[in-house]
Amino acid sequence: MTTERVIEAFEVRKNYAGGTEGAGLNGFDLEVSAGTVTGLLGPNGAGKTTAVRILATLLRMDSGEVRIAGYDVSRDGAEVRRRIGLVGQYAAVDEVLTGRQNLVMFGRLNHLGHPKAVSRADELLERFGLTESAALPASKYSGGMRRRLDLAASLIVAPSVLFVDEPTTGLDPGGRAEVWAAVRELVKQGTTVLLTTQYLDEADQLADRISMLKAGKVVAEGTPDDLKSQLGADWLDLVLTATTDVPRVLQLVGRLADGEIHTDELKVSIPVKDRTRALIEVATLLQEAKIEPADITLRRPTLDEVFLHLTGKEASV
Ligand SMILES: Nc1ncnc2c1ncn2[C@@H]1O[C@H](COP(=O)(O)OP(=O)(O)O)[C@@H](O)[C@H]1O
Ligand SMILES: [Mg+2]
Repeated sequence: MTTERVIEAFEVRKNYAGGTEGAGLNGFDLEVSAGTVTGLLGPNGAGKTTAVRILATLLRMDSGEVRIAGYDVSRDGAEVRRRIGLVGQYAAVDEVLTGRQNLVMFGRLNHLGHPKAVSRADELLERFGLTESAALPASKYSGGMRRRLDLAASLIVAPSVLFVDEPTTGLDPGGRAEVWAAVRELVKQGTTVLLTTQYLDEADQLADRISMLKAGKVVAEGTPDDLKSQLGADWLDLVLTATTDVPRVLQLVGRLADGEIHTDELKVSIPVKDRTRALIEVATLLQEAKIEPADITLRRPTLDEVFLHLTGKEASV
């Protein structure tokens, strides 16, 4: 297995003139190996788009170093651009043109001859499940279809690195699933993908490695499993019917907690390691004590809790 680094970013800094203090990038580091998907995960305003635009040579950094496929973005921008594709946060397709016409146009813009542009368009429509809607204007496409058309357009010239900025923001669950399938399709073909997202589950589904970005800096990095074990436990939330039961419940469930129990009026949140066992044991303990909870639920940590856990600060939104 190759460990060739396709993206290398060191200590990248970017301050927007007139922007808010601390906005932009504040010592951003990233390493991405060939043939992998890396998720750049962070809340709105964390600096994801700024990072992608710098990596893609669309924006100049103030200081730092970035190499894409070994080429320095500041010195060899043209070489970098020859090897990358970018799917932006906002769909770049032309509404009036059909799906096929859009792809043919992108092919022509990328200097393919007409017959070659048409055959490439048809190949990509097929690959992204758009053959049946190829003759419809893009304005008739659903959000998920549009994003797939965007992904297809970015692959016209088969880049070795593809940047995908928030591909599913604003899509419904069906649309998200379609886009996830399309990204998996890319990866099968060996494209290296850097994907930005606000959603922990999306990074978890698609990424081999995740870098968590907060206020322009990577605060944690690793495989989804690495990060989850850093995040620690799942949560078991109990909602009781009387505040007078709270002390009793804390006493009963104390030994099951893997970390500090949080209480908020009628709600008791218990960090737990073994989800199913904890659920059964808590239910049994409550039943034996004849305490009937109004609600009992298991949940994964939220993105906010992840940030809270890693940084001791609320994620800024
Ligand atoms: N052109 C700009 N001028 C001033 N501030 C900007 C500009 N673009 C982004 N910012 C600020 O930089 C921070 C990071 O933005 P961005 O990279 O778009 O974050 P994300 O993509 O993670 O939501 C935000 O605080 C944003 O307001
Ligand atoms: Mg963004």
